[in-house]
Amino acid sequence: MAAPRILVVDDTDELSRVAADVVAAVIEATPAAAIAVATGRTPIGLYAELAARRRSNLIDVPGIAVYQLDEYLGLEPFDRRSLFGWMQQSFLEPLGIEDERVNRLPVDGDLDDGCAAFDRELEAGGGLDLAILGLGPNGHLGFNEPPSGPDTPTRVVDLSPVTIEANARYWGDAADVPRTAVTMGMAQLLSARSIVLLASGEEKRSILHRALEGSIGPEVPASYLRETPGELTVIVDRAARSQG
Ligand code: PGA
Repeated sequence: MAAPRILVVDDTDELSRVAADVVAAVIEATPAAAIAVATGRTPIGLYAELAARRRSNLIDVPGIAVYQLDEYLGLEPFDRRSLFGWMQQSFLEPLGIEDERVNRLPVDGDLDDGCAAFDRELEAGGGLDLAILGLGPNGHLGFNEPPSGPDTPTRVVDLSPVTIEANARYWGDAADVPRTAVTMGMAQLLSARSIVLLASGEEKRSILHRALEGSIGPEVPASYLRETPGELTVIVDRAARSQG
């Protein structure tokens, strides 16, 4: 386990550019990279930057395989709140990624079987080359809510009140946020060969500090990133990292 590389940048524009450099380097080294892609606000600028580089023929991504990180349960197909829909609009379509290269989490049928099959398929493909992650206000990764240990698999979860409150800003109101979800497991994320954690804004400062300098344990799932055998790059803006 190497020490995490912590890159402190001025603002969200620089965060997006620096993160795009890291992601582009992984894809250049591994054109068939298996990648987990977070939704949420923080990586939006990164995906826009990658799409701009693709339009300028600076990168190409036809060979990557995308694994869905998390999804709400109980939604009708094409519900505006679908995180798959969010990933499609922000990442898959702008980067021209074909449907057959996308591995979705199960949202119906026997979910336990579906989650186990998702993990088996990911493992059969050699696991993740790259996980692009945001940081939840409670230290979650994907929807691995506290407490989540490092060996937890892909599974169904109840969302915590903190997550429901935080996600209300995407959908209007806490009442609009589904209560259950499916998340890629900590085990699958932590074994990624490269992990990029993004955090921006003052509201992430305290949880980022706990994740990077607090005790490592299930109450702050992101703290386990410090034990990942892979390469961890943390890219944060000054508002999230300022020690003042
Ligand atoms: P955000 O979400 O990027 O919208 O802050 C992060 C998360 O909840 O994981």
